[in-house]
Amino acid sequence: MLVSAKEMLNKARDGHYAVGQFNINNLEWTKCILQTAEELKAPVILGVSEGAGKYMCGYDTVVGMVKGMIKCLNITVPVALHLDHGTFEGAKACINAGFSSIMFDGSHYPIEENLKLTTALVNTCDILGISLEAEVGAIGGEEDGVSSMGECADPAECKMIADLGVTMLAAGIGNIHGKYPEGWPGLRFDVLENIKKTVGDMPLVLHGGTGIPEDMVKKAINLGVAKVNVNTECQISFTAAVRKYIEDGKDLQGKGFDPRKVLAPGCEAIKETVREKMEIFGCIGKA
Ligand code: 13P
Repeated sequence: MLVSAKEMLNKARDGHYAVGQFNINNLEWTKCILQTAEELKAPVILGVSEGAGKYMCGYDTVVGMVKGMIKCLNITVPVALHLDHGTFEGAKACINAGFSSIMFDGSHYPIEENLKLTTALVNTCDILGISLEAEVGAIGGEEDGVSSMGECADPAECKMIADLGVTMLAAGIGNIHGKYPEGWPGLRFDVLENIKKTVGDMPLVLHGGTGIPEDMVKKAINLGVAKVNVNTECQISFTAAVRKYIEDGKDLQGKGFDPRKVLAPGCEAIKETVREKMEIFGCIGKA
């Protein structure tokens, strides 16, 4: 069943672990993440960027695919289908299509505009039982071709957004999307602590989960992070495994050219990455 992320995140916050958001790109991705979550009895959030939504033929297709898989694969763990870094228009489209969780990313707007647009979504999501993630302090790196520098969120602005009644808050703490550059100084735990102090109970979201050292992720979870987003790492492990299959000439043996065979090693690699991350996040057995 598709559920709002609210309950799973509140439980994670109280239990000092984090739920993983794994972004999906296609059928294989979705299937592998759902199967791993079920096998490990972990709650899970499927992230869909607007670009990936478009690639997968629109939000209705995504909702249909995910609901179909939950039914046909007998998935019993809680699954939230979540728009990742949505625009205001994208958020409305996903609400209409049946997503159970939305991120509205107004971090690139002046705070007044971010407050205004986030406010407009709070009520709708509340009425429909959809969880809502807001963002303060743009998270750097490149996603869907849009790049920005890493920022640290202002705790006072975080409080203003949190007080609107959103479900969870993504706040920049020196994290960036994609691979971390050489010499990256690490997460700003001082900023995270200040944000946590000002926003209180609000579950915090750590974006850019790829490549953050394990001890830093665990420390962030101890300081109030209840959701960690991972995208690039699954892409890297998937592609490396498929590359090996081709380089080993397996596609040239027998019916090795069958796409189900070509993609199989990539699928196993995604499952392994998701498993490793879930171990670090501490969410195994929590569903
Ligand atoms: P990575 O691609 O760095 O894992 O970040 C994912 C993310 O934060 C999605 O919002």
